[in-house]
Amino acid sequence: MFKQTFKLTLVTPIEIRRWLTTLRRTLREEGFLTFLRRVASPLFTYNSGYMYEYKLDGTDEIPMVPCNVNDIVVRPLYIPTMTIFEYEAWGRDAFDFPSHPHAQEYKREPGISRGMLIFYATSGRDFVHRTGVALSARGGTAYERVWRRIRHPSYPLSCLDDGHTVYGAFSLTDAKYRRKGVYAHVYSKVHRYLKDKGFSRIISLAMEDVAAGIRIRESEGANPFLRVYVITLLTLFDFMWVRPCTKSPLVESGISS
Ligand SMILES: CC(C)(COP(=O)(O)OP(=O)(O)OC[C@H]1O[C@@H](n2cnc3c(N)ncnc32)[C@H](O)[C@@H]1OP(=O)(O)O)[C@@H](O)C(=O)NCCC(=O)NCCS
Repeated sequence: MFKQTFKLTLVTPIEIRRWLTTLRRTLREEGFLTFLRRVASPLFTYNSGYMYEYKLDGTDEIPMVPCNVNDIVVRPLYIPTMTIFEYEAWGRDAFDFPSHPHAQEYKREPGISRGMLIFYATSGRDFVHRTGVALSARGGTAYERVWRRIRHPSYPLSCLDDGHTVYGAFSLTDAKYRRKGVYAHVYSKVHRYLKDKGFSRIISLAMEDVAAGIRIRESEGANPFLRVYVITLLTLFDFMWVRPCTKSPLVESGISS
């Protein structure tokens, strides 16, 4: 059974920075009223999600999922100096990751797990999508925060530094390109790429308020293994608890298809 610890913790600086960048973007793209509503909302929020595991070590070829953006180009970039903390602090900004001074081609180095892979998709000169993959638990993955609550030997934190397991970080599709299958398309490329590079497992957290995240993981056959609940007070404190999970969220919470 889980040795679960219940404690109120300070929200991390990354979450505060992400919230601030989201507010800035909301003001720019969705107008003052939506901005005001978002500013007022953080007195109390409740959210829940699922920690998923997707195995890449099967012998079957990973199917490529097409999307409705014909000239999409997905570039994998490796930034060895970047932590997930720094990646996620970009919030919902497109950010020109290909121009990052340390962006380079990824070459697998056995025994070394550090940095971020970023799958950066464009169409012509337009930013279309980005998905981050952390090659290490260091630097603040949600998995690390969840693990600190449960400390269960079956889910060791060290697995994210074993050189075979990676953590799926934040994804963003530009508003203009949403609902065209881009996320699904990029994720199929992510899985193929990781498998080709010798990784065997991807762990990721999908929150219930982002239906796309859950739908994608369910359709690709990822397994939910933990249920995660979070209450945030005044944006500064959060209270998280976790329980084991075996059922698909589509069954468990009736997310519509
Ligand atoms: C979440 C997000 C990345 C999805 O990107 P997208 O390119 O529009 O997703 P896709 O078109 O590939 O859709 C993938 C699946 O999710 C479903 N979906 C997409 N947006 C949805 C929505 N708003 N509500 C319900 N289902 C949705 C699609 O129908 C599709 O399901 P299907 O394969 O069963 O048909 C995008 O909405 C986004 O950038 N949101 C803001 C950032 C965010 O919340 N990121 C969290 C993800 S880690």
